[in-house]
Amino acid sequence: MFLYHKVCRACGFGKPDIPTLKESLAAGPKAASTALIPVFDLGVQPLANDFCKEGQERSGYAPLKVLFCPKCTLAQLSVVVRPDILYRHYAYITSKSLTMQHHFQALTDLLLSEQGHVGSVAEIGSNDGLFLKYLRNRGFGNLCGIDPAENLSKIAHDDMQIPTINACFDQSSALMARAGVGEPDFIVARHVFCHIDDWQGFISALDNLAGKQTLIAIEVPYAADVLSNGEFDTIYHEHTSYLSLRAMEALLKNTPFHIHRVSWFQIHGGAIVILLRRNDWNGAANPGTMAMIEKEKVTEDTWLDFGVKAQCEIQNLSDTIRDMAASGKTVIGYGASAKSTVWINACKFSRKEIRFICDNTPAKQYTVTPGTDIPITDDGAITRELPDYAILFAWNYKFEILEKEKLARSKGTKFIVPLPKFEIV
Ligand code: TMP
Repeated sequence: MFLYHKVCRACGFGKPDIPTLKESLAAGPKAASTALIPVFDLGVQPLANDFCKEGQERSGYAPLKVLFCPKCTLAQLSVVVRPDILYRHYAYITSKSLTMQHHFQALTDLLLSEQGHVGSVAEIGSNDGLFLKYLRNRGFGNLCGIDPAENLSKIAHDDMQIPTINACFDQSSALMARAGVGEPDFIVARHVFCHIDDWQGFISALDNLAGKQTLIAIEVPYAADVLSNGEFDTIYHEHTSYLSLRAMEALLKNTPFHIHRVSWFQIHGGAIVILLRRNDWNGAANPGTMAMIEKEKVTEDTWLDFGVKAQCEIQNLSDTIRDMAASGKTVIGYGASAKSTVWINACKFSRKEIRFICDNTPAKQYTVTPGTDIPITDDGAITRELPDYAILFAWNYKFEILEKEKLARSKGTKFIVPLPKFEIV
């Protein structure tokens, strides 16, 4: 189901094999370590998006441990779960929320400010085609999605009329996309890069797809935000890497691409869009980029501090909810995000503490949270049941959800927001 991964996928640091006794003795006790450094460990955990109906077979459990590269500052999981298990039938669907619409608008404005015109787009990890549909409404033409999930590619193709290649992004799907859209003006990869194991293969595939004038936009959760906000719940098996800009620089060394510009966005608790250009593109790199890389605080120590903070966050929510349950208060969850699975399993909650989780995604409703017996219901259940408390596991949509659920709030339901700052509202 999974493979151990001991070599940094950005810079190649780390010895692939455990040294033999002879090698260890020859190196001596003072030999410099050549291994990636363990900095965070949540033990063995279920796959965060493995939402199944009762009785359906589950995909299983795998270690959830983060290793840090002292050479380029990339953090990556110690294992890689087989992509076909994670993605062939995928439960994560791009949110149709207002928050996401605003983000699409800001991202598109950034793309246009760089190229100066609309044009053809290839999207890697296009999910159900929502972003490409948005781009089509803004006047972009000649669109092509690439996504390994059969269920989502079908929605993109049949319901959104977005031509979609149902495959992982590799050299052959890149060539198919190139045959479809020609040399794209834009290549977009939103929240997919850190799911990919083989970054060298990704760069080779980009080389097959990108032309000299192509602008490449890679959107990822930013490791510096994960660390400074204590967002441990974004650590799950799909996210094989936690990317710093230094690591991205290390990866791009000796490739045909370089970082052209970086923009920060609020979405998903803090994300960066890294714009890449080909090295033979005849324009100047954005001057702010180097400064952003230099002030980046992603180190072994910041990861270790983060681990301590995360354990406090887990203890705090665990104690708070158990106290509430013991005093007869009713508690539910709001938003069956992958983050909810991480929280619930870290806190070892069951139906005793959390009666159900409500969520507006039809594919998640009437399933149970991976690793537990906690059922997922429709999002109307909060107003029908009026619990005393709802834990906002979709904290990245806080303002929108608090506004949407004002009826339940006016009748007494309080929201517990676990991150980025614990609060009860
Ligand atoms: P995400 O942070 O991974 O996008 O997950 C957020 C989850 O919250 C997703 O399953 C959809 C759910 N959700 C609602 O149920 N209601 C809402 O209004 C929003 C914005 C999200």
